[in-house]
Amino acid sequence: MRHPSLPRARRRVIGALTAAVLGAGGLSVPAATALPQAPGTPGAAPRAAVPERAPALPPAPAAGAEAPAATPPMGFNNWNSTHCRADFHEAMVKGIADIFVARGLKEAGYTYVNLDDCWALPERNAEGKLVPDPVRFPNGIKAVADYVHAKGLKFGIYTSAGTKTCNRAGFPGALGHEYSDAQQFADWGVDYLKYDNCNNQGVDAKLRYTTMRDALRATGRPIVYSICEWGQNKPWEWAKDVGQLWRTTGDISDNWGSMLSIMKRNLPLAPYAGPGHWNDPDMLEVGNGGMTDTEYRSHFSMWSIMAAPLLIGADLRKVPESTFEILGNREVIAVNQDRLGKQGTVVSSEGGRWVVAKELADGSRAVALFNESARPQRIATTAQAVGLAQATAYKVRDLWRHGSAHTAGTLSATVPAHGTVLLRVAPERAWAVLPPSMELSAEDNVMAEATSTGRLTTAVTDLGRTPALKVAAALTGPQGWTVRPTSPTARRVLNGGQKLTTGWEFTVPAGTAPGSYGLTLTVTHRSITGTRLTHSAPAAVSVVVPPPAGRSYLSDIGWLSAVNGFGPVEKDRSNGESKAGDGRPLTIGGQVFAKGLGAHASSTVEYYTGGRCTTVSAQVGVDDEKGTRGTVAFEIWADGVKAASTGVLTNAMNAQPLTADVRGAKAVRLVVTDGGDGIDSDHADWADLAIGC
Ligand code: GLA
Repeated sequence: MRHPSLPRARRRVIGALTAAVLGAGGLSVPAATALPQAPGTPGAAPRAAVPERAPALPPAPAAGAEAPAATPPMGFNNWNSTHCRADFHEAMVKGIADIFVARGLKEAGYTYVNLDDCWALPERNAEGKLVPDPVRFPNGIKAVADYVHAKGLKFGIYTSAGTKTCNRAGFPGALGHEYSDAQQFADWGVDYLKYDNCNNQGVDAKLRYTTMRDALRATGRPIVYSICEWGQNKPWEWAKDVGQLWRTTGDISDNWGSMLSIMKRNLPLAPYAGPGHWNDPDMLEVGNGGMTDTEYRSHFSMWSIMAAPLLIGADLRKVPESTFEILGNREVIAVNQDRLGKQGTVVSSEGGRWVVAKELADGSRAVALFNESARPQRIATTAQAVGLAQATAYKVRDLWRHGSAHTAGTLSATVPAHGTVLLRVAPERAWAVLPPSMELSAEDNVMAEATSTGRLTTAVTDLGRTPALKVAAALTGPQGWTVRPTSPTARRVLNGGQKLTTGWEFTVPAGTAPGSYGLTLTVTHRSITGTRLTHSAPAAVSVVVPPPAGRSYLSDIGWLSAVNGFGPVEKDRSNGESKAGDGRPLTIGGQVFAKGLGAHASSTVEYYTGGRCTTVSAQVGVDDEKGTRGTVAFEIWADGVKAASTGVLTNAMNAQPLTADVRGAKAVRLVVTDGGDGIDSDHADWADLAIGC
């Protein structure tokens, strides 16, 4: 039912009227425009900054037409690479459109070329219309949109559901100008609007975002509508019929911690996503330089399996070739763009080992084995656990290595630190023609002192139903290390389910600095059909220094590893939740401690003791900085033995002494658990933490 909407001229007048009212600094609104009031101001004088009222009923989307954004939108947005810097301009945007075509990204599905904040001048013109910045966009916005359209691509723009956009310079927002601005966008040929949340004047979010939806509909032009209120008003609960996507979190930045925390907040929202209504964990950072390629592959894998919009945020005119390999991976994109439109869900998550699975339209499952931790880990699941029906065997496609194998049911890999193995798995009748899936693994937690000899065990397992032939394993260390096997490295026939275990001895050269060092396990084999295959997997050795004799504070000694529930573990500070060094003095029950660790449940900090230490002691408790809700329990482990623990401690309690006998242990682990009620407010202090050796 399409309403013959008001003549365009009349709509402009209303928009201009509202603008004039706003411009006059909050005079009352003329009765003729009858603007809706913000909630919470019943009977009060109308606020100046309120959404425009619909001049006519918006046309509903045509019945039977394909839903907009039936799969997650793909494209580009300049924000993550340029912010408001001067290198955001017409030539850049056109350059991206050119590259989309030239480098096959358009072909791969990237469609939208979108502008973010700072494209406009700070003031509207006399008619209340938005004015493109003549320095950045000397030919106006329509010219850029036309250029993008001529390439067969679509064009997007940005504004805020507030009086001004987010940038400090204060560009005009659309609150109170919705119909006028939407029409201006439509006249320019805009196909996508990102609608931000800054300077919203406290007006109800549903009202603000719904008004713009109606304004966009009233233009008659199909415009994908991206709600950007950062998850503040739980848009997943109400925006399904408002926009096609909604941000679920604050802004991403180009580092592992930011990407990880956003991922963790977006994952539980899976039930709310579907065709035409997607959770948006913000735009991609792939290619911007703040993460390694391994981390960028993880970022791209997880955004794909979460059915997130894939908006490239790097200036593609300047990125290394590896960026194109990541963003252009068609097999990964196919997971994201699968027409069933399900967001992947968490199958298991423990010790930084995540298994996330996404049901796909052809009945198969995409499976991400995501390693949050800073060392290689074996991550495993089964075909059954990811929701597949019982079958003799399954096809396993590795979407980054582009190889296929079969498995009897186990899905497993040793995943590099911060890495992701992304698989596509389905029951397979012709499994016998595929080589068996081979699991490579290496002993975890191996430690060695410099100049010493260490030992390490590796294994290769045939996970399939056919034998692997002529299996041979090799282990290589970093430059200057020597590595030699202490048991057989080869097997003529390794049957399905069998494992070849090899012991290795290595030497760490003198002068090697403490830290984690990578080794590589390489395995070659032949399948029964004669194909020769090579696999590799990472291993890690921690080079350690023995703790000094006598009593030392552990915060003065380097740890082997530290995992924390929120932000980094702090030395001699409480846990500030985001950056290193952002905590406060360690304080328990009003008592301040100069030395110790500031942790947050769930946390594990590990130290090398090399069998030379006797006791670990501390004063433990919940830091005063977090009100009354924190509950935690502390544990000290000597190798695999729990040597001391507290019960559940609360904010109300003073520091408790905790001492553990750690004699003979090669390593000690300091563990904080959440007290059984989740990690909220669990700031855990290991005050006065000392070791005797
Ligand atoms: C907000 C948004 C960002 C970006 C900026 C622009 O922070 O969340 O994605 O659009 O505004 O100023």
